[in-house]
Parts: sequence; C-alpha cells; structure tokens
Amino acid sequence: MSKRLLLTLALPIGFALAIISCNSQPDEGTLSKGKDLFTKHCMSCHGLQDDGIGPPLGGVTSVVAEPQLIDFIKNPSKYIDSQDIRFSLLKQKYKLVMPPFEWLPEDDISAIVAYLKQQTELFDIPPLDVTQQSKEAGLSGQLVSAPQPSDISIELEEVVQLPALGESSDLGVVTLRSSPIGDGAMFASDQHGVIYRIKDRKATVFMDLRNELPDFQSGPGIATGLGSFDFHPHFRNNGLLYISHAEAYKGQPADYVVSDTLRSVAQWIVGEWKANNPMDTVFSGIYRELLRVHAPTFAHGMQDIGFIPGLEKNHPDYGMLYFGYGDGGSNNIHHPELGITLNRSWGAS
Ligand code: HEC
Repeated sequence: MSKRLLLTLALPIGFALAIISCNSQPDEGTLSKGKDLFTKHCMSCHGLQDDGIGPPLGGVTSVVAEPQLIDFIKNPSKYIDSQDIRFSLLKQKYKLVMPPFEWLPEDDISAIVAYLKQQTELFDIPPLDVTQQSKEAGLSGQLVSAPQPSDISIELEEVVQLPALGESSDLGVVTLRSSPIGDGAMFASDQHGVIYRIKDRKATVFMDLRNELPDFQSGPGIATGLGSFDFHPHFRNNGLLYISHAEAYKGQPADYVVSDTLRSVAQWIVGEWKANNPMDTVFSGIYRELLRVHAPTFAHGMQDIGFIPGLEKNHPDYGMLYFGYGDGGSNNIHHPELGITLNRSWGAS
C-alpha cells in the first residue's frame, strides 16, 4: 500500500475518531428522560434556581463531580454523616435529609444529572453558596413580633387510624370535614383516592375514586391524587359534593391548556358528585365533570376546594365553590408567565 493511500485512509478515520471522542454531550433522548425523571422524582422538593424543601439544583454540577453526585443521590445520609462540609451545611440549612434513591437505576440517575448539567449551562445558573445563611441576607424574616406563649394547652387524642394506601408515602390524609347531615360522623380524604366516613372511632370507605375514574392518578408527588373535597351547603337535600382530583394525561382536551409546545404531565379536574341518597353511608350516584386543567408538572397542583363555612344564605359568597391552584410547577420549568397571568388558571383561586 502506498504512503499516499495510507494517508488518504488514515485522515478520515482519525477525524471520525476525533469526532466520537469529543462528542461526550448527552443525546436528546437522555436529556428528555432526565427531565421526565427529575420532574417525577425530584421536583416536589427541588427547583433549578429557587429554594424549595431542598436546595436549588441548577449549578450543582459545576461544584460537585458527577460520580460523587450520583453516589450522593443514591445514599445521601452516607454523606451527611461524613465530615463533608458541603453536605453537613446543607442538612443544617434545610433541616432534613433527602430520601435515598438507591432503587433508581444508575442510568436514570445519570440522565437526571445530565439534564441538570444541560440546564445549568443553558441558563448559566451559578452554584449555590452553601455558606450563605439565607438569600434574604439583611432581612430578619419576621414581619410581626414573635408570638407570646399562652396558657392554653391542647391535648391530642387518637380517634382512628386509617390504613396506609398505595406506594407513595408522600401522600396522605389532607381534608377532614364534619358530616353535612348532622349525624356526628366525620369524613376524611386520603390523596391516594379514598374518602372515609368516620363514626364511633371506626373508619369505613365512603368513596373510592380509584374504582370510579379509570385515569385517576395518585403519585409520584404530593401534588397529585385526590386534592380535596367539600359538601354543598344543601347536601342534605341535593346530595351534591365536589372533589378535585388528578388524572394521567392522555391527550384529553382541557378548559385550560398550558400551551401547544409545553406538554402536560397530568390534569386536574373539579368534579361534581350527586348522591342517590344523601343519607347513604357508602356513596352511590352520578358524576359530572366541571373543569379540567392541564398540569405542567407534578408539583403545586389543585389542592384545597370548598365552600366558605358559616355564611348567611343572603351572603353573596353563599353556595360559591372555591378552589386554589398552585403555579403547577411552571416556575420550576422556567415558565413563570403561566402562574402570573390573570386569565390563566395557574397561580389562582
Ligand atoms: C423529600 C424531598 C427531596 C426529594 C424528593 C429529593 N431531594 Fe435532593 N435534597 C433534599 C434536601 C432536604 C437536601 C439538602 C439536605 C441533604 O443534603 O439531605 C437535598 C440535597 C440534594 C443535593 C445536594 C445539593 C448540593 O447543592 O450539593 C442533590 C444533588 C440532590 N438533593 C439531588 C436530588 C435528586 C436528583 C432528586 C431526585 C431523584 C432529589 N434530590 C430528590 C430533599 C429532597
């Protein structure tokens, strides 16, 4: 083989190898998988730039090396217990140790880290300075004088224990209401989808949304499942109750959509349920959907829903149903406009 031919072959091969070795950027598939996993498993506690239950994660890839980051995410308490100053300060600041993600395949954790790195570079996010006590340095954080202890004491008595449902321990009992028919019962809802009737210290299932709604979705975060419920002030006569709940997004049309470029991960629905007999201790009746809203992320959804209690019948708010919707996590994905525009449903009540 002539020298010239060798050179002609060697040059393109060398060039191709150089391209392969430089091309360490993660592909689009990895980044979108990382984003989905981050939204699903991390966003209930972390934003990219804003403080949450945990620190903002944008910028962390510039100060902690990738193998250590992956190892930390798998088992944070190992680092917190070690003498590592960064993680000890984080624990002090956030007063919580993050849950371990050992069960998540390493490829998935790497994809999350790749997504964090890409977002950091895209938005030029600086790393968190863990030695800084608070972002609002100079403010006391206290707008009114500290409360004075009173001599009132409160006794806590266990009435009933409700069963642990579903996989997500983030979800639990969120709403407790007294019986609208004055029989001394109470009703409690578990975000996993069940409303219990509690009478004489015994809880029985009043309604199980998991059996009623095929697309009902509880988990992965605290802002999914059965949001809340309330009885109409005339429940005794009309048998009406209202429930907010989340559903898996399968392309269903909604009254409020995020935009045609932002994918909805779930939807929140306000539903009206009409009992056949308001005196029944187990619900049977019909369902009517009142409102359906896209959820941009699994965070900050539609939680409380209710009528203002104790109003006179002639009050303009009497019989009005109110609900609050968080920003749907839109801030976390750099779309704050969704939550601050008055004609949209996010960030509103
Ligand atoms: C229940 C809340 C919670 C969840 C869910 C959570 N974290 Fe955390 N995370 C925290 C808290 C609190 C801290 C700070 C205290 C500590 O280190 O444990 C933290 C710290 C971190 C740090 C260290 C940040 C730094 O600046 O050094 C990383 C990295 C991290 N989390 C990644 C993740 C990832 C990735 C996920 C999802 C797979 C996740 N976390 C899910 C609460 C959470």
